[in-house]
Amino acid sequence: IKRDSRFAEITEEHVKHFKELLGKDSAVIDGVTKDATDDIEPFNGDWMRKYRGHTKLVLKPGSTEEVSKVLKYCNDNMLAVVPQGGNSGLVGGSVPVFDEIVINMSRMNQIRSFDEVSGTLVVDAGCILEVADGYLGERGHIFPLDLGAKGSCHIGGNVATNAGGLRLLRYGSLHGNVLGLEAVLPDGTIVDDLSKLRKNNTGYDLKQLFIGAEGTIGIITGVSIICPQRSNAINVAFFGLESYEKVQEAFKEAKGQLSEILSAFELMDSFSQDLVHNVTKNKRPLESEYPFYCLIETSGSNSEHDNEKLEKFLEYVMEKEIVLDGVVAQDETQVKALWGWREGIPECLGHWGGVYKYDLSIPINELYDLVEDTRKKITDAGLIGEDEARPVVGVVGYGHMGDSNLHLNVAVKRYDKKVEKELEPFVYEWVAKRNGSISAEHGLGLAKKNYIGYSRSGTMVALMKQIKNLYDPNGIMNPYKYI
Ligand code: FAD
Ligand code: MLT
Ligand code: ZN
Repeated sequence: IKRDSRFAEITEEHVKHFKELLGKDSAVIDGVTKDATDDIEPFNGDWMRKYRGHTKLVLKPGSTEEVSKVLKYCNDNMLAVVPQGGNSGLVGGSVPVFDEIVINMSRMNQIRSFDEVSGTLVVDAGCILEVADGYLGERGHIFPLDLGAKGSCHIGGNVATNAGGLRLLRYGSLHGNVLGLEAVLPDGTIVDDLSKLRKNNTGYDLKQLFIGAEGTIGIITGVSIICPQRSNAINVAFFGLESYEKVQEAFKEAKGQLSEILSAFELMDSFSQDLVHNVTKNKRPLESEYPFYCLIETSGSNSEHDNEKLEKFLEYVMEKEIVLDGVVAQDETQVKALWGWREGIPECLGHWGGVYKYDLSIPINELYDLVEDTRKKITDAGLIGEDEARPVVGVVGYGHMGDSNLHLNVAVKRYDKKVEKELEPFVYEWVAKRNGSISAEHGLGLAKKNYIGYSRSGTMVALMKQIKNLYDPNGIMNPYKYI
Protein backbone atom coordinates (compact mmCIF):
# COMPACT_ATOMS: atom_id res chain seq x y z
CA ILE A 1 0.00 0.00 0.00
CA LYS A 2 1.05 3.57 -0.64
CA ARG A 3 0.51 6.51 1.66
CA ASP A 4 -2.53 8.49 0.52
CA SER A 5 -1.20 11.87 -0.57
CA ARG A 6 -4.52 13.57 0.23
CA PHE A 7 -3.60 13.37 3.90
CA ALA A 8 -1.53 16.17 5.39
CA GLU A 9 1.72 15.56 7.24
CA ILE A 10 1.91 16.64 10.86
CA THR A 11 3.58 19.98 11.39
CA GLU A 12 4.81 21.86 14.42
CA GLU A 13 1.75 24.07 14.14
CA HIS A 14 -0.62 21.09 14.41
CA VAL A 15 1.21 19.86 17.48
CA LYS A 16 1.03 23.30 19.06
CA HIS A 17 -2.71 23.36 18.47
CA PHE A 18 -3.25 19.94 20.05
CA LYS A 19 -1.10 20.79 23.06
CA GLU A 20 -3.15 23.89 23.68
CA LEU A 21 -6.34 21.93 23.27
CA LEU A 22 -5.51 18.93 25.46
CA GLY A 23 -2.67 20.05 27.71
CA LYS A 24 0.86 18.88 27.11
CA ASP A 25 0.60 15.64 29.11
CA SER A 26 -2.09 14.38 26.77
CA ALA A 27 0.16 14.09 23.77
CA VAL A 28 3.00 11.67 23.05
CA ILE A 29 5.22 13.11 20.38
CA ASP A 30 8.20 11.69 18.59
CA GLY A 31 9.84 13.86 15.99
CA VAL A 32 8.03 16.92 14.65
CA THR A 33 9.19 19.20 17.48
CA LYS A 34 12.64 19.40 19.04
CA ASP A 35 11.52 18.84 22.63
CA ALA A 36 9.84 15.53 21.82
CA THR A 37 11.37 12.61 23.71
CA ASP A 38 8.49 10.32 24.65
CA ASP A 39 8.47 6.64 23.80
CA ILE A 40 5.94 6.35 21.03
CA GLU A 41 6.73 2.78 19.97
CA PRO A 42 4.12 0.98 22.11
CA PHE A 43 1.41 2.87 20.21
CA ASN A 44 2.87 1.97 16.82
CA GLY A 45 3.18 -1.79 17.28
CA ASP A 46 0.42 -4.37 17.65
CA TRP A 47 0.02 -7.22 20.14
CA MET A 48 1.24 -9.85 17.67
CA ARG A 49 4.36 -7.85 16.72
CA LYS A 50 3.16 -8.19 13.15
CA TYR A 51 2.06 -4.67 12.26
CA ARG A 52 4.03 -1.51 12.86
CA GLY A 53 3.11 2.03 11.95
CA HIS A 54 5.12 5.23 12.04
CA THR A 55 3.04 7.77 13.85
CA LYS A 56 4.78 10.75 15.37
CA LEU A 57 1.80 11.81 17.43
CA VAL A 58 -0.47 10.12 19.96
CA LEU A 59 -3.32 12.14 21.44
CA LYS A 60 -5.14 11.21 24.63
CA PRO A 61 -8.35 13.20 24.89
CA GLY A 62 -9.96 13.33 28.32
CA SER A 63 -13.58 14.01 27.40
CA THR A 64 -16.12 13.62 24.62
CA GLU A 65 -15.85 17.34 23.90
CA GLU A 66 -12.09 16.99 23.48
CA VAL A 67 -12.54 14.05 21.11
CA SER A 68 -14.96 16.19 19.14
CA LYS A 69 -12.54 19.11 18.89
CA VAL A 70 -9.64 16.87 17.94
CA LEU A 71 -11.59 15.09 15.21
CA LYS A 72 -13.02 18.29 13.77
CA TYR A 73 -9.54 19.79 13.55
CA CYS A 74 -8.17 16.62 11.93
CA ASN A 75 -11.04 16.54 9.46
CA ASP A 76 -10.62 20.19 8.56
CA ASN A 77 -6.88 19.72 8.09
CA MET A 78 -7.01 16.33 6.35
CA LEU A 79 -5.08 14.60 9.11
CA ALA A 80 -5.77 10.85 9.15
CA VAL A 81 -6.41 9.17 12.53
CA VAL A 82 -6.48 5.72 14.13
CA PRO A 83 -8.72 5.22 17.17
CA GLN A 84 -6.91 3.07 19.72
CA GLY A 85 -8.22 1.31 22.81
CA GLY A 86 -6.16 -1.26 24.69
CA ASN A 87 -4.32 -2.18 21.48
CA SER A 88 -5.07 -5.87 21.95
CA GLY A 89 -6.73 -6.27 18.54
CA LEU A 90 -5.55 -9.20 16.44
CA VAL A 91 -5.99 -7.92 12.89
CA GLY A 92 -3.68 -4.90 12.79
CA GLY A 93 -6.60 -2.46 13.03
CA SER A 94 -5.48 -0.51 16.08
CA VAL A 95 -2.09 0.75 14.87
CA PRO A 96 -1.29 3.21 12.10
CA VAL A 97 -0.09 2.03 8.72
CA PHE A 98 1.88 5.19 7.95
CA ASP A 99 1.86 8.38 10.02
CA GLU A 100 -1.81 8.55 11.04
CA ILE A 101 -2.40 10.24 14.39
CA VAL A 102 -3.25 7.73 17.12
CA ILE A 103 -6.22 8.80 19.23
CA ASN A 104 -5.76 6.75 22.34
CA MET A 105 -8.78 6.49 24.64
CA SER A 106 -7.03 5.47 27.87
CA ARG A 107 -7.74 8.75 29.69
CA MET A 108 -11.48 8.35 29.26
CA ASN A 109 -11.71 5.54 31.77
CA GLN A 110 -14.48 6.38 34.22
CA ILE A 111 -17.56 4.45 35.17
CA ARG A 112 -20.41 6.90 34.65
CA SER A 113 -23.33 5.16 36.32
CA PHE A 114 -24.79 1.81 37.31
CA ASP A 115 -28.38 0.89 38.10
CA GLU A 116 -28.52 -2.16 40.35
CA VAL A 117 -32.15 -2.89 39.56
CA SER A 118 -32.00 -2.91 35.76
CA GLY A 119 -28.29 -3.86 35.58
CA THR A 120 -27.55 -0.97 33.22
CA LEU A 121 -23.93 0.17 33.24
CA VAL A 122 -22.74 3.35 31.55
CA VAL A 123 -18.98 3.74 31.05
CA ASP A 124 -16.41 5.80 29.22
CA ALA A 125 -15.08 4.00 26.16
CA GLY A 126 -11.56 3.79 27.60
CA CYS A 127 -12.62 1.86 30.70
CA ILE A 128 -10.69 -1.42 30.92
CA LEU A 129 -12.93 -4.48 30.70
CA GLU A 130 -11.55 -6.09 33.87
CA VAL A 131 -12.00 -2.86 35.83
CA ALA A 132 -15.65 -2.64 34.78
CA ASP A 133 -16.20 -6.30 35.60
CA GLY A 134 -14.57 -5.87 39.02
CA TYR A 135 -16.85 -2.92 39.74
CA LEU A 136 -19.86 -4.98 38.70
CA GLY A 137 -18.66 -7.96 40.75
CA GLU A 138 -18.81 -5.87 43.92
CA ARG A 139 -22.43 -5.15 43.03
CA GLY A 140 -23.52 -8.70 42.25
CA HIS A 141 -23.36 -8.31 38.49
CA ILE A 142 -21.13 -9.45 35.63
CA PHE A 143 -20.04 -7.87 32.36
CA PRO A 144 -21.72 -9.86 29.57
CA LEU A 145 -18.37 -10.29 27.76
CA ASP A 146 -15.19 -11.99 28.90
CA LEU A 147 -11.97 -12.57 27.01
CA GLY A 148 -8.28 -13.31 27.55
CA ALA A 149 -7.28 -9.68 26.97
CA LYS A 150 -9.61 -8.37 29.71
CA GLY A 151 -6.75 -6.82 31.67
CA SER A 152 -5.87 -4.45 28.82
CA CYS A 153 -8.73 -4.15 26.32
CA HIS A 154 -11.15 -1.24 26.57
CA ILE A 155 -14.91 -1.49 26.45
CA GLY A 156 -14.86 0.98 23.55
CA GLY A 157 -12.46 -1.37 21.73
CA ASN A 158 -14.66 -4.34 22.53
CA VAL A 159 -17.66 -2.58 21.03
CA ALA A 160 -15.66 -1.30 18.04
CA THR A 161 -14.62 -4.91 17.25
CA ASN A 162 -17.90 -6.48 18.39
CA ALA A 163 -15.77 -8.87 20.43
CA GLY A 164 -17.29 -12.29 21.08
CA GLY A 165 -15.25 -14.03 23.75
CA LEU A 166 -15.74 -16.89 26.12
CA ARG A 167 -19.35 -16.50 27.24
CA LEU A 168 -21.20 -15.37 24.13
CA LEU A 169 -22.95 -18.73 24.22
CA ARG A 170 -24.64 -17.63 27.41
CA TYR A 171 -24.98 -13.85 27.27
CA GLY A 172 -25.21 -13.21 23.54
CA SER A 173 -23.42 -10.66 21.38
CA LEU A 174 -22.77 -6.97 21.98
CA HIS A 175 -25.28 -6.20 19.24
CA GLY A 176 -27.89 -7.32 21.75
CA ASN A 177 -26.36 -6.18 25.02
CA VAL A 178 -25.26 -2.67 24.12
CA LEU A 179 -28.22 -0.42 24.84
CA GLY A 180 -26.74 2.86 23.75
CA LEU A 181 -23.61 4.55 22.49
CA GLU A 182 -22.05 7.96 22.51
CA ALA A 183 -19.77 8.54 19.54
CA VAL A 184 -18.06 11.33 17.68
CA LEU A 185 -18.10 11.62 13.91
CA PRO A 186 -15.08 12.91 12.01
CA ASP A 187 -16.66 16.33 11.54
CA GLY A 188 -16.92 16.69 15.32
CA THR A 189 -20.63 15.87 15.61
CA ILE A 190 -21.39 14.21 18.93
CA VAL A 191 -23.86 11.37 18.40
CA ASP A 192 -25.64 11.10 21.73
CA ASP A 193 -27.47 7.81 21.58
CA LEU A 194 -26.57 6.72 25.10
CA SER A 195 -29.98 5.17 25.65
CA LYS A 196 -30.56 2.98 28.69
CA LEU A 197 -33.68 1.47 27.21
CA ARG A 198 -33.99 -2.22 26.61
CA LYS A 199 -36.63 -1.61 23.98
CA ASN A 200 -36.70 1.29 21.57
CA ASN A 201 -38.23 0.73 18.16
CA THR A 202 -38.10 4.26 16.85
CA GLY A 203 -36.51 4.12 13.45
CA TYR A 204 -33.13 2.80 12.32
CA ASP A 205 -30.97 1.50 15.16
CA LEU A 206 -27.91 3.50 14.11
CA LYS A 207 -25.73 2.55 17.07
CA GLN A 208 -25.46 -0.93 15.52
CA LEU A 209 -23.33 0.58 12.75
CA PHE A 210 -20.61 1.49 15.26
CA ILE A 211 -20.61 -1.99 16.79
CA GLY A 212 -17.97 -3.86 14.81
CA ALA A 213 -17.08 -0.86 12.58
CA GLU A 214 -13.45 -1.03 13.82
CA GLY A 215 -13.10 2.73 14.12
CA THR A 216 -13.87 3.45 10.46
CA ILE A 217 -16.83 5.81 10.89
CA GLY A 218 -16.34 7.50 14.25
CA ILE A 219 -14.91 7.25 17.74
CA ILE A 220 -16.99 5.63 20.45
CA THR A 221 -16.71 7.68 23.65
CA GLY A 222 -19.37 6.13 25.90
CA VAL A 223 -21.21 2.82 26.16
CA SER A 224 -24.41 1.84 27.92
CA ILE A 225 -24.79 -1.89 28.38
CA ILE A 226 -27.11 -4.33 30.11
CA CYS A 227 -25.28 -6.53 32.62
CA PRO A 228 -26.69 -9.77 34.03
CA GLN A 229 -26.75 -10.85 37.65
CA ARG A 230 -23.50 -12.59 38.66
CA SER A 231 -24.07 -16.28 39.30
CA ASN A 232 -23.03 -17.42 42.74
CA ALA A 233 -22.42 -21.01 41.68
CA ILE A 234 -19.70 -21.36 39.05
CA ASN A 235 -18.34 -24.75 38.09
CA VAL A 236 -15.67 -25.62 35.58
CA ALA A 237 -14.97 -29.05 34.13
CA PHE A 238 -12.14 -30.09 31.82
CA PHE A 239 -12.44 -33.18 29.63
CA GLY A 240 -10.24 -35.35 27.44
CA LEU A 241 -11.85 -36.86 24.33
CA GLU A 242 -10.73 -39.28 21.65
CA SER A 243 -12.14 -37.57 18.54
CA TYR A 244 -13.85 -34.48 17.21
CA GLU A 245 -16.98 -36.61 16.78
CA LYS A 246 -17.02 -37.13 20.53
CA VAL A 247 -16.56 -33.41 21.16
CA GLN A 248 -19.69 -32.77 19.14
CA GLU A 249 -21.59 -35.40 21.13
CA ALA A 250 -20.40 -33.84 24.37
CA PHE A 251 -21.56 -30.42 23.21
CA LYS A 252 -24.97 -31.75 22.29
CA GLU A 253 -25.32 -33.47 25.67
CA ALA A 254 -24.09 -30.39 27.52
CA LYS A 255 -26.72 -28.25 25.85
CA GLY A 256 -29.42 -30.78 26.59
CA GLN A 257 -28.52 -31.63 30.17
CA LEU A 258 -27.00 -28.40 31.44
CA SER A 259 -29.19 -26.11 29.32
CA GLU A 260 -29.78 -22.85 31.23
CA ILE A 261 -26.69 -23.12 33.43
CA LEU A 262 -24.20 -23.77 30.59
CA SER A 263 -22.05 -20.63 30.25
CA ALA A 264 -19.09 -21.74 28.14
CA PHE A 265 -18.10 -24.65 25.92
CA GLU A 266 -14.55 -24.27 24.66
CA LEU A 267 -12.51 -26.59 22.44
CA MET A 268 -8.76 -27.16 22.55
CA ASP A 269 -6.83 -29.70 20.48
CA SER A 270 -3.81 -31.60 21.78
CA PHE A 271 -1.45 -29.49 19.66
CA SER A 272 -2.59 -26.29 21.37
CA GLN A 273 -2.28 -27.85 24.81
CA ASP A 274 1.20 -29.22 24.02
CA LEU A 275 2.37 -25.73 23.11
CA VAL A 276 0.84 -24.25 26.29
CA HIS A 277 2.52 -26.96 28.34
CA ASN A 278 5.79 -26.36 26.56
CA VAL A 279 5.73 -22.69 27.59
CA THR A 280 4.16 -22.74 31.05
CA LYS A 281 5.42 -26.18 32.23
CA ASN A 282 2.29 -26.32 34.40
CA LYS A 283 1.06 -29.69 35.57
CA ARG A 284 -1.55 -30.94 33.12
CA PRO A 285 -5.12 -31.20 34.42
CA LEU A 286 -5.58 -34.85 33.35
CA GLU A 287 -3.34 -37.88 33.96
CA SER A 288 -3.13 -38.89 30.31
CA GLU A 289 -3.07 -36.98 27.06
CA TYR A 290 -5.93 -36.95 24.55
CA PRO A 291 -6.42 -35.70 20.97
CA PHE A 292 -9.09 -33.21 22.10
CA TYR A 293 -10.05 -31.35 25.24
CA CYS A 294 -13.02 -29.26 26.14
CA LEU A 295 -13.72 -26.87 28.95
CA ILE A 296 -17.26 -26.59 30.20
CA GLU A 297 -18.40 -23.86 32.55
CA THR A 298 -21.74 -23.68 34.30
CA SER A 299 -23.09 -20.64 36.13
CA GLY A 300 -26.29 -20.73 38.08
CA SER A 301 -27.95 -19.37 41.15
CA ASN A 302 -28.30 -22.55 43.18
CA SER A 303 -25.10 -24.52 43.77
CA GLU A 304 -26.85 -27.63 45.04
CA HIS A 305 -29.03 -27.77 41.95
CA ASP A 306 -26.08 -27.02 39.65
CA ASN A 307 -23.80 -29.61 41.23
CA GLU A 308 -26.46 -32.25 40.90
CA LYS A 309 -26.95 -31.45 37.23
CA LEU A 310 -23.23 -31.38 36.53
CA GLU A 311 -22.60 -34.66 38.34
CA LYS A 312 -25.36 -36.39 36.43
CA PHE A 313 -23.96 -35.03 33.20
CA LEU A 314 -20.45 -36.21 34.10
CA GLU A 315 -21.68 -39.67 34.94
CA TYR A 316 -23.57 -39.86 31.70
CA VAL A 317 -20.75 -38.74 29.38
CA MET A 318 -18.22 -41.01 31.12
CA GLU A 319 -20.52 -44.02 31.09
CA LYS A 320 -21.35 -43.55 27.40
CA GLU A 321 -17.61 -43.07 26.74
CA ILE A 322 -18.24 -39.71 25.16
CA VAL A 323 -15.42 -38.37 27.27
CA LEU A 324 -12.47 -40.49 28.37
CA ASP A 325 -11.42 -38.55 31.43
CA GLY A 326 -12.46 -35.39 33.20
CA VAL A 327 -11.85 -33.21 36.21
CA VAL A 328 -14.05 -30.68 37.99
CA ALA A 329 -12.49 -27.67 39.68
CA GLN A 330 -12.85 -27.87 43.45
CA ASP A 331 -12.20 -24.24 44.28
CA GLU A 332 -11.57 -20.81 42.81
CA THR A 333 -7.85 -21.52 42.29
CA GLN A 334 -8.63 -24.63 40.26
CA VAL A 335 -11.24 -22.75 38.25
CA LYS A 336 -8.54 -20.24 37.31
CA ALA A 337 -5.99 -22.99 36.59
CA LEU A 338 -8.34 -24.86 34.26
CA TRP A 339 -9.31 -21.67 32.43
CA GLY A 340 -5.59 -20.97 32.09
CA TRP A 341 -5.23 -23.94 29.74
CA ARG A 342 -7.71 -22.27 27.42
CA GLU A 343 -7.21 -18.54 27.99
CA GLY A 344 -3.42 -18.92 27.97
CA ILE A 345 -3.30 -20.28 24.40
CA PRO A 346 -2.95 -16.95 22.50
CA GLU A 347 -0.13 -15.75 24.77
CA CYS A 348 1.77 -19.08 24.59
CA LEU A 349 1.45 -19.39 20.82
CA GLY A 350 3.36 -16.15 20.35
CA HIS A 351 6.29 -17.54 22.33
CA TRP A 352 8.30 -18.74 19.30
CA GLY A 353 8.16 -15.51 17.33
CA GLY A 354 4.90 -15.09 15.45
CA VAL A 355 1.46 -16.54 14.74
CA TYR A 356 -0.72 -16.65 11.66
CA LYS A 357 -4.20 -16.28 13.08
CA TYR A 358 -7.47 -17.29 11.47
CA ASP A 359 -10.71 -16.67 13.30
CA LEU A 360 -13.49 -18.47 11.48
CA SER A 361 -17.14 -19.36 11.60
CA ILE A 362 -17.61 -22.85 10.15
CA PRO A 363 -20.55 -25.26 10.23
CA ILE A 364 -19.91 -27.21 13.39
CA ASN A 365 -19.70 -30.68 11.85
CA GLU A 366 -16.79 -29.61 9.61
CA LEU A 367 -15.13 -27.21 12.01
CA TYR A 368 -12.05 -29.28 12.83
CA ASP A 369 -11.53 -30.59 9.27
CA LEU A 370 -9.91 -27.29 8.41
CA VAL A 371 -7.21 -27.75 11.05
CA GLU A 372 -6.39 -31.20 9.69
CA ASP A 373 -6.39 -30.05 6.07
CA THR A 374 -4.16 -27.11 6.92
CA ARG A 375 -1.75 -29.20 8.95
CA LYS A 376 -1.45 -31.63 6.05
CA LYS A 377 -0.79 -28.81 3.60
CA ILE A 378 1.92 -27.28 5.79
CA THR A 379 3.47 -30.70 6.43
CA ASP A 380 3.44 -31.64 2.73
CA ALA A 381 5.16 -28.36 1.94
CA GLY A 382 7.94 -29.37 4.37
CA LEU A 383 7.49 -26.23 6.44
CA ILE A 384 6.97 -27.74 9.89
CA GLY A 385 9.74 -29.03 12.13
CA GLU A 386 12.10 -28.33 14.95
CA ASP A 387 15.12 -27.37 12.88
CA GLU A 388 15.67 -23.66 12.32
CA ALA A 389 15.18 -23.94 8.56
CA ARG A 390 11.54 -24.93 8.99
CA PRO A 391 9.51 -21.93 10.09
CA VAL A 392 6.38 -23.62 11.47
CA VAL A 393 6.26 -24.77 15.10
CA GLY A 394 2.67 -26.03 15.13
CA VAL A 395 -0.74 -25.93 13.45
CA VAL A 396 -3.32 -25.76 16.21
CA GLY A 397 -7.07 -25.51 16.60
CA TYR A 398 -9.07 -24.16 19.51
CA GLY A 399 -12.00 -21.86 20.00
CA HIS A 400 -15.52 -21.16 20.96
CA MET A 401 -17.09 -24.47 20.00
CA GLY A 402 -20.41 -23.32 21.43
CA ASP A 403 -20.54 -20.60 18.76
CA SER A 404 -19.09 -22.71 15.88
CA ASN A 405 -16.09 -20.37 16.02
CA LEU A 406 -12.73 -21.97 15.28
CA HIS A 407 -9.36 -20.35 15.93
CA LEU A 408 -6.91 -21.91 13.50
CA ASN A 409 -3.44 -20.73 14.44
CA VAL A 410 -0.08 -21.45 12.87
CA ALA A 411 2.73 -20.70 15.27
CA VAL A 412 6.00 -19.78 13.58
CA LYS A 413 9.58 -18.96 14.51
CA ARG A 414 9.37 -15.96 12.19
CA TYR A 415 6.84 -14.53 9.75
CA ASP A 416 7.62 -16.14 6.41
CA LYS A 417 6.13 -15.54 2.94
CA LYS A 418 6.35 -19.26 2.11
CA VAL A 419 4.07 -20.09 5.02
CA GLU A 420 1.68 -17.28 4.18
CA LYS A 421 1.44 -18.50 0.58
CA GLU A 422 0.39 -21.96 1.76
CA LEU A 423 -2.25 -20.50 4.06
CA GLU A 424 -3.78 -17.71 2.01
CA PRO A 425 -6.07 -17.78 0.16
CA PHE A 426 -6.37 -21.52 0.93
CA VAL A 427 -8.02 -20.97 4.33
CA TYR A 428 -10.40 -18.32 2.98
CA GLU A 429 -11.44 -20.45 -0.01
CA TRP A 430 -12.00 -23.43 2.27
CA VAL A 431 -14.26 -21.37 4.51
CA ALA A 432 -16.14 -19.62 1.68
CA LYS A 433 -16.93 -23.01 0.12
CA ARG A 434 -18.82 -23.85 3.30
CA ASN A 435 -20.52 -20.44 3.56
CA GLY A 436 -18.57 -19.68 6.69
CA SER A 437 -17.10 -16.37 7.82
CA ILE A 438 -13.44 -15.41 7.44
CA SER A 439 -13.73 -13.35 10.59
CA ALA A 440 -16.02 -14.58 13.32
CA GLU A 441 -15.02 -12.14 16.06
CA HIS A 442 -11.69 -10.34 15.52
CA GLY A 443 -12.74 -8.16 12.58
CA LEU A 444 -10.89 -7.43 9.35
CA GLY A 445 -8.51 -4.56 10.12
CA LEU A 446 -5.48 -4.57 7.89
CA ALA A 447 -4.87 -8.32 8.05
CA LYS A 448 -8.05 -9.38 6.30
CA LYS A 449 -8.97 -6.33 4.28
CA ASN A 450 -8.28 -7.99 0.94
CA TYR A 451 -10.42 -10.99 1.74
CA ILE A 452 -13.78 -9.47 2.66
CA GLY A 453 -15.15 -10.77 -0.66
CA TYR A 454 -14.91 -14.34 0.63
CA SER A 455 -17.63 -13.58 3.18
CA ARG A 456 -19.57 -10.64 1.76
CA SER A 457 -21.09 -10.12 -1.68
CA GLY A 458 -20.21 -7.20 -3.93
CA THR A 459 -23.57 -5.63 -3.14
CA MET A 460 -22.91 -5.80 0.60
CA VAL A 461 -19.45 -4.31 0.27
CA ALA A 462 -20.84 -1.50 -1.91
CA LEU A 463 -23.47 -0.70 0.74
CA MET A 464 -20.75 -0.61 3.39
CA LYS A 465 -18.76 1.83 1.25
CA GLN A 466 -21.80 4.09 0.96
CA ILE A 467 -22.11 4.20 4.73
CA LYS A 468 -18.41 4.88 5.11
CA ASN A 469 -18.62 7.78 2.64
CA LEU A 470 -21.67 9.20 4.36
CA TYR A 471 -20.10 9.24 7.83
CA ASP A 472 -16.52 9.93 6.83
CA PRO A 473 -16.49 11.70 3.46
CA ASN A 474 -12.81 12.69 3.77
CA GLY A 475 -11.81 9.13 4.66
CA ILE A 476 -9.68 10.20 7.65
CA MET A 477 -10.99 7.47 10.00
CA ASN A 478 -8.65 4.49 10.20
CA PRO A 479 -7.63 4.57 6.53
CA TYR A 480 -5.99 1.67 4.63
CA LYS A 481 -7.99 -0.78 6.73
CA TYR A 482 -10.86 -2.88 5.50
CA ILE A 483 -13.07 -0.31 3.93
P1 FAD B 1 -7.85 -2.03 20.05
O1 FAD B 1 -7.02 -3.21 19.78
O2 FAD B 1 -7.17 -0.84 20.56
O3 FAD B 1 -8.66 -1.63 18.73
C1 FAD B 1 -9.34 -2.57 17.97
C2 FAD B 1 -10.11 -1.86 16.83
O4 FAD B 1 -11.12 -1.04 17.37
C3 FAD B 1 -9.24 -0.94 15.99
O5 FAD B 1 -9.69 -0.97 14.68
C4 FAD B 1 -9.47 0.43 16.61
O6 FAD B 1 -9.28 1.47 15.67
C5 FAD B 1 -10.90 0.33 17.05
N1 FAD B 1 -11.21 1.09 18.28
C6 FAD B 1 -10.69 0.94 19.51
N2 FAD B 1 -11.28 1.77 20.39
C7 FAD B 1 -12.20 2.48 19.69
C8 FAD B 1 -13.14 3.49 20.03
N3 FAD B 1 -13.26 3.96 21.27
N4 FAD B 1 -13.94 3.98 19.04
C9 FAD B 1 -13.84 3.53 17.77
N5 FAD B 1 -12.97 2.57 17.40
C10 FAD B 1 -12.16 2.05 18.34
N6 FAD B 1 -11.52 -10.95 20.57
C11 FAD B 1 -12.67 -11.62 20.62
O7 FAD B 1 -13.62 -11.26 19.92
N7 FAD B 1 -12.83 -12.72 21.44
C12 FAD B 1 -11.84 -13.16 22.24
O8 FAD B 1 -12.01 -14.16 22.93
C13 FAD B 1 -10.61 -12.46 22.22
N8 FAD B 1 -9.61 -12.85 23.02
C14 FAD B 1 -8.43 -12.20 22.95
C15 FAD B 1 -7.39 -12.65 23.76
C16 FAD B 1 -6.15 -12.03 23.72
C17 FAD B 1 -5.04 -12.54 24.61
C18 FAD B 1 -5.95 -10.92 22.86
C19 FAD B 1 -4.64 -10.22 22.81
C20 FAD B 1 -6.99 -10.47 22.05
C21 FAD B 1 -8.23 -11.10 22.07
N9 FAD B 1 -9.30 -10.68 21.26
C22 FAD B 1 -10.49 -11.35 21.33
C23 FAD B 1 -9.12 -9.61 20.24
C24 FAD B 1 -9.60 -8.17 20.47
O9 FAD B 1 -10.60 -7.85 19.51
C25 FAD B 1 -10.11 -7.82 21.78
O10 FAD B 1 -9.01 -7.96 22.62
C26 FAD B 1 -10.72 -6.41 22.04
O11 FAD B 1 -12.06 -6.36 21.65
C27 FAD B 1 -10.00 -5.23 21.45
O12 FAD B 1 -10.15 -4.14 22.34
P2 FAD B 1 -9.02 -3.01 22.47
O13 FAD B 1 -9.51 -1.99 23.41
O14 FAD B 1 -7.72 -3.60 22.76
O15 FAD B 1 -9.05 -2.41 21.00
C1 MLT C 1 -9.38 -16.47 21.95
O1 MLT C 1 -10.49 -16.99 21.83
O2 MLT C 1 -8.50 -16.94 22.67
C2 MLT C 1 -9.15 -15.18 21.24
O3 MLT C 1 -10.09 -14.90 20.26
C3 MLT C 1 -7.75 -14.92 20.84
C4 MLT C 1 -7.22 -15.84 19.80
O4 MLT C 1 -7.92 -16.16 18.85
O5 MLT C 1 -6.07 -16.25 19.88
ZN1 ZN D 1 -11.79 -16.09 20.47
